[in-house]
Order: sequence, then structure tokens, then C-alpha cells
Amino acid sequence: MTKNKKVFLNGEYIDAENANVSVMDRGFLFGDGIYEVIPVYNGCLFCFDEHLDRLENSLKLTRIENPYSRSEWREIMLPLIDVTKNQYIYFQITRGTAEKRDHAFPAGVKPTVFMMCNDIVPFDTKENGVKAITLEDNRWSACNIKAIALLGNILLRQQAVEHDCAEAILVRDNYITEGAASNVFAVIDGVLITPPKSNFILAGITRDVILEIADKNKIPYSEESISLNALKTASEIWFASSTREILPVVELDNSLVGNGEVGQLWRTMNDLFQNYKTTYTANKK
Ligand SMILES: Cc1ncc(COP(=O)(O)O)c(C=O)c1O
Repeated sequence: MTKNKKVFLNGEYIDAENANVSVMDRGFLFGDGIYEVIPVYNGCLFCFDEHLDRLENSLKLTRIENPYSRSEWREIMLPLIDVTKNQYIYFQITRGTAEKRDHAFPAGVKPTVFMMCNDIVPFDTKENGVKAITLEDNRWSACNIKAIALLGNILLRQQAVEHDCAEAILVRDNYITEGAASNVFAVIDGVLITPPKSNFILAGITRDVILEIADKNKIPYSEESISLNALKTASEIWFASSTREILPVVELDNSLVGNGEVGQLWRTMNDLFQNYKTTYTANKK
């Protein structure tokens, strides 16, 4: 752990090494909590409102009380940020610490709030593309909640890593859902396609930005289901997430995607995405 790194825990900024949560916390015992990750480019919280919309939805669906207003959330984040760097804010809210372990909600407990800020480490093989593997999506059916209980996602990502892949593409009933920690895009017959929002995917903020950019730039796109067979015909496949941005896939299940090189549409979209970030951060200064 980095020495003297400050984190926020239940109303206080403290050194990370002194930040402790009770073993009776429901996050520890049950994974009973939700989280968000917001990229911060040189001090600018990228798509803050969109991330807060999703946080509020996760809290509503899990019936955990929201301890802060939007402006309070922003105020809490600011002291943790180094404005000279590209970073991300990670924050989680658990249902709180109860006296005994019981599945049903405890009465009268206050949510536990934890927040930290870390540097974004650029994904170094991005320009060359990455390998991916398809795996059966065996997670629960409430993937639209950004739950801290990530065991399903963790086991899937680990399987991908053990196959020398950067990420897994998850398949439910022969249709693509998303990555273990990302959304999936495919270019099929010249159209950029991503699965529609549903309870089987986490609706990514990066996903929405990509669709907004495609729309503005007249890039043909569609939100529709992608079968595993259709995915195998894609000329390009990408992953999208806040910390890895847009990651091109050049190999799927040991076969080349397209000609095995990073695709032209990825190059175009990645440039447009970088411009979008620059304009966004300039306008918020
Ligand atoms: C399961 C899952 N889907 C999609 C995403 C992408 O979401 P975002 O673009 O908001 O980071 C993530 C990000 O962590 C994720 O964990």
C-alpha cells in the first residue's frame, strides 16, 4: 500500500493503512453493497452525472439509502484527486455494520462509505490489440446493478487471464452479453453493434459515449443482440470500460478477428473518443 495515501471512510479522510471496516460490515460478510468508478482526467470528473445516475439506480435497486447529495459526493471526491494526473475515483457503499449476521436487512444501520483515488495505468498493448476468449455467462440476472459482489466476474476474468487473454466475452443462451468488466462492441457488415441494455449487462458509461460519438459522426450503429455465430464473422471486436477505454480485440478463441490487425473503425473511434475527452475536460474547467 502506498504510504500516506489518503482515503475517505465514513466521513473522514485518513491514511489508507489506518482505514478499517468492521468484520460485521455487510459488505465483508455478504458482498451487500454497490460501487462506482469515475475516470478523472487532470482533475475533471468525466461523465460525473452519468455515473451518479447509475449509482442512484444501483442504490434504489438494492434499497440502500443514499447518504449524500450529488454536490456532497463531488465535494468528497475533490480532496483525493491529484489534478496533474489521469486517475479514477473508486467508491463503494455497503448496507452497513449490523450486530449479527442475518440475511434480511438490519434495522437502523448507517451505510458504510469508502472512497479512494488511484492512477489510471494506460493499457500498454492497446495499439496492438488483445486476445479474448468466449465463456459461458454464469452470473446472476441482475447484472445492471453495479454490485461489489463480483465473484462471478472475477472467476471469469481469471479464466481469461489463464488463457493469456485480456478479457472474456460472456455468452448467455448463445448470445453475447458483455465482458467480465467491460461492454462489448462488434463491427458486422460495416455496422457497429452492441447488445441492448438489459438486466444481463451493466450499462457502461463508456458504451454510451461511444454510441453518442457514432451518432454525431454518422457511423452506422445499432443496439441489438449478437449471437455467438455472428460474433465470429465480425471484422472488429472491441471492449469498452472507464479504465481501459476502448480496447481492440485481434484474436478470439485462438482465431484472428478480421485480418488479425487493429481495425480502421477502432482507429477512427479511438481518435474521436480522445477528442471527446479533451473537449469535455476543457469545457468543464
Ligand atoms: C461488468 C461490467 N460491464 C461493463 C463495464 C463498463 O462500464 P463503464 O464504461 O461505466 O466503466 C464494467 C466496468 O467496470 C463492468 O464491470
